[in-house]
Parts: sequence; structure tokens; C-alpha cells
Amino acid sequence: MTILVTAAGGNQGRLLVPKLLQRGRSVRANVLTEASAARLRELGVDDIVVGDLRDPEVQRQAVQGVDKIYHVGATGSDERTLGLGLVDAARIEGVSHFVFSSVLHAIITDLKQHEYKRDIEEHLLSSDLEFTILQPTNYMLPLRLRPVFARGVFELSWSLDRKQSLVDLDDVTDVAATVLTDTARHAGATYELAAPGRLDAHELCDIISRVLDRPIELREITPETYANAWLRDVDPETAEHVLSVVRSISARYSAHDFVGNANVLTWLLGCEPTSYEQFVEREWSAFRAAQTVSA
Ligand SMILES: NC(=O)c1ccc[n+]([C@@H]2O[C@H](COP(=O)([O-])OP(=O)(O)OC[C@H]3O[C@@H](n4cnc5c(N)ncnc54)[C@H](OP(=O)(O)O)[C@@H]3O)[C@@H](O)[C@H]2O)c1
Repeated sequence: MTILVTAAGGNQGRLLVPKLLQRGRSVRANVLTEASAARLRELGVDDIVVGDLRDPEVQRQAVQGVDKIYHVGATGSDERTLGLGLVDAARIEGVSHFVFSSVLHAIITDLKQHEYKRDIEEHLLSSDLEFTILQPTNYMLPLRLRPVFARGVFELSWSLDRKQSLVDLDDVTDVAATVLTDTARHAGATYELAAPGRLDAHELCDIISRVLDRPIELREITPETYANAWLRDVDPETAEHVLSVVRSISARYSAHDFVGNANVLTWLLGCEPTSYEQFVEREWSAFRAAQTVSA
């Protein structure tokens, strides 16, 4: 009973893989780079397919012999083709449960990465595979707190007055692990995943300031500034795509709030989802612990 986890070295995969191992599940991981494969081997994963999942041969290798799939689509202009191909490969292989990590409000078509996921959802629904679709809202990303901890500045690349609902990836991957280990209960479901609250940048900044117990400067940055901070090691084609995704996010989130509802996540977890304040507290204490060790 092996579960294939795609994007296994990414934000979700890094948290999900250990949870599946702890539950005694056998995991096959797909990653792009040897560096991510090495980190997964340290966690105890020995079934790793290193390769570009856009390649049909890599898809075949990744899917062959697995019982279930958790698919997270890496950001890229081929996200749709890759996702559709993986669904087809899963059907040919007779996979018993395909869990797709999509996005909240996948029907919004002025966001390319939503449109891709909407198309993959549709293809999955038409595949006759047993499925579950998770629709997480914006992640509470530790990456976004780096400038706060390093320079005391909270930066967002869209209107500071627009509200968003956020979700902690620890909660998302708890749900993913539950869904993957209890197919009968969750097959055929589409779950929107959001923590309680609708927060604009001023409110996010106030929370951070309270946790760190010091004033934090709030700054709106351009999509280019945000994207360039994490595009250094990316090939030019992916960099161009990521930049266009970040620009479309900035335009959309400056024009409209991006909000969801916490009822489904609360029910799935059996408790209140992690709040933004709890997330900042956790990351801040991890940051301070790391500083103490390196001092
Ligand atoms: N950020 C948000 O707020 C948010 C909210 C909802 C949904 N999403 C969606 O979440 C997805 C990203 O998930 P994530 O943040 O967990 O992942 P991530 O951190 O962006 O990591 C992506 C992983 O995919 C691997 N990868 C990249 N290109 C690949 C390829 N061609 N073939 C095989 N592997 C490849 C990389 O492997 P290596 O580690 O080897 O480089 C990397 O570890 C996107 O589809 C995004 O739209 C994001």
C-alpha cells in the first residue's frame, strides 16, 4: 500500500511525508532535485523518483505500483499538462485513490494557477478514479516572516487594505494524512480549507508586532521585488512564469478580497484550526531557538 507524494520536497511535502511515515504508510516521493531526495532519505524515505514529472516516462515510473496519490502541482506553466497526464497515468495504473491538492476558489479564471487546477479537478472528476480534492486558501508561509525576523519589516505585494483568509500547512497536511489513510470516509469529497478570520495587512502586521513585542514596519512591495527574492536559482522559463503568476496575484488581490470559511477545516481537524497568531508564535519561537543554537 504505497502512497505517491508529488512535490515531496516542497512546503506541503516536507510536512506530509513524515506524518505518513509516522502512520506506518509506505511512501514514494517524487522530487526534481537530488538535494531534495537527500533530505527525504534522511527522513527515512527510500523509494524516491528523482525527475521532471512533466516527462511521461517519469510519470509512469512514479505511478507504477502505487496504491494512492497525493498530487501537489509545482508552480509552472506546465502545471495543467502535468496534472492531466498524472490523472491519466493513475487511471491506467488502477490507482485506488487520487487526492489532489488544488486551491480555494479554483474557478477564478484571472489567476492562471487557479485555472490550471480547475481544469485538473474537472479531468479528475471525469476520470472515474476515486478522488478527494483539497482546496487550501493562501498558505501561512514561514518565508513571508523572514523579512520580519531579519529586518523588522512585513512586506506584501498587493493592496494592504484587502482581506484574505489564510491556512497553516500543518493543518492542511494533517487533513491530507487523514484523507489518505481513510479513503472510504473521504472519497468523493471536495474540502475548502481555511482558518477562521479575514485579515488585511494592517491586522496581520498588528498580530506580528504583538507576538514579537516590538513595532513592525508595514510595506507594500511590487510583484517584481517579491518574486525576485526567491527566483535566484530558477531557470529563466520558470522564472518568467512565476513572475506572471505573482503579477496576476497582485492584481487580483488588490482588486478583491480572497476569503473562505473555516467550518470544513474545523470539522476535519476536530478542533479549531491554527490561527495566524499561533502560527507567528510558533515560527518566532523556532527562529529564536535556532539563533540560540547557532550562537
Ligand atoms: N502559496 C500559497 O499560498 C498556495 C495556496 C494554495 C495552493 N498553492 C499551490 O501549491 C502548489 C505548490 O505547493 P508547495 O508550496 O507545497 O510546493 P513548493 O514548495 O512550491 O515545491 C514544489 C516542489 O515541486 C518540485 N518540482 C518543481 N518542478 C518539478 C517538476 N517539473 N517535476 C517534479 N517536481 C518538481 C520541487 O522539487 P525540488 O525540491 O527537488 O526542487 C519542489 O520541492 C502550487 O500549485 C500552488 O499554486 C499555493
